[in-house]
Amino acid sequence: MHRAQTLEPDVNHACPEDTSKPGCDAAGRRAIVTGAAGFIGSHTAQALLGRGYTVLGVDSLDPYYDPRTKERNLASVRAGAHPDAFRSLVCDITDADAIRDAFALFAPDVVVHLAARAGVRPSIADPASYAHTNVVGTQNVLDAAHAAGCTKAICASSSSVYGNCPSTPFAETAAVDRPISPYAATKRACELIGHTHHHLTGASVAMVRFFTVFGPRQRPDLAIHTFLDRVSTRRPITLFGDGSTSRDYTYVDDIVAGVLSAIERIDEHGYRIWNLGGDHPISLNDLVGIISDVVGTEPIIERAGMQPGDVDRTWADLSRSRDELGYAPQTTIADGIARQFEWMRSRADA
Ligand SMILES: NC(=O)c1ccc[n+]([C@@H]2O[C@H](COP(=O)([O-])OP(=O)(O)OC[C@H]3O[C@@H](n4cnc5c(N)ncnc54)[C@H](O)[C@@H]3O)[C@@H](O)[C@H]2O)c1
Repeated sequence: MHRAQTLEPDVNHACPEDTSKPGCDAAGRRAIVTGAAGFIGSHTAQALLGRGYTVLGVDSLDPYYDPRTKERNLASVRAGAHPDAFRSLVCDITDADAIRDAFALFAPDVVVHLAARAGVRPSIADPASYAHTNVVGTQNVLDAAHAAGCTKAICASSSSVYGNCPSTPFAETAAVDRPISPYAATKRACELIGHTHHHLTGASVAMVRFFTVFGPRQRPDLAIHTFLDRVSTRRPITLFGDGSTSRDYTYVDDIVAGVLSAIERIDEHGYRIWNLGGDHPISLNDLVGIISDVVGTEPIIERAGMQPGDVDRTWADLSRSRDELGYAPQTTIADGIARQFEWMRSRADA
């Protein structure tokens, strides 16, 4: 019953047999983007559409943050696309039957799997649901891809898999068997599941480790979004720790460029992990300074202790992704934060 409801009518419009419909070009490439209503997923879907893909966005509109924000993200993707080039489906990746049906009907050439329960701190309060969505969900997506003859998967992993790795920058060859949050553990588990899938099916599987992503549509729980919001409305911000923790922030367009390149290059490798970072880690204190400059207001700072699960620092070694993907992040942290703030203000005015 659930399946019939979710698969009508959008997916059938884009089914491979239906080549008479405009935008349903059998020679064109077809991508499923899971998590398409989210921050990175909506940008990825737009970029794929821009490259001429027909895209099916799959998302459960999970209430981790306001589903109306996700509806707006989908509306933005839809607004820039040919009506038959983009379809969206409300579907939960933990529902194996529903996800298998979606893949069978759409018959994608590639899946970009971004759907997940994201966020380090909330995963400590609810580890089982993180494991269910991220681990079982990823297995379902890969199984559904295989059943539908889809031989290419690009999956979101995370810098959190490095835990408190002692040597920086973090290289893909580093040992990553000491995660310090349930979220990180699920992301590492997904990398291992991806390898097994590649080994058993021969499918090409890329695991792209994103390093703290920011830009327009950033999740509202992430620091840059929260700080911009609160500093611009003269509300206090809470800094955890002494401000010396650092992150390698990465602008969303750079992440998407890396994902697109991974789609093109993964067949040469079979299975590969790539870091996608910004290569310019900055401390929390410096981040607050940049935010203050962009907003033009002095922040009101409250201090609190380090949070369990938070790592001390992240920094991507980009040697492999530069060499193999031609990955080269373009946007500085200051420019990217200015763009994100401009987007937040335009949304507030809307
Ligand atoms: N944003 C970052 O800094 C960052 C860093 C590292 C890794 N990642 C990973 O990148 C991916 C995208 O992250 P984001 O920041 O865009 O998060 P997001 O929460 O904005 O997007 C994730 C999307 O997945 C959907 N989703 C959640 N559970 C689902 C389920 N059971 N079935 C179907 N859809 C479901 C949500 O509704 C949401 O729209 C995630 O896999 C995340 O773990 C993000």
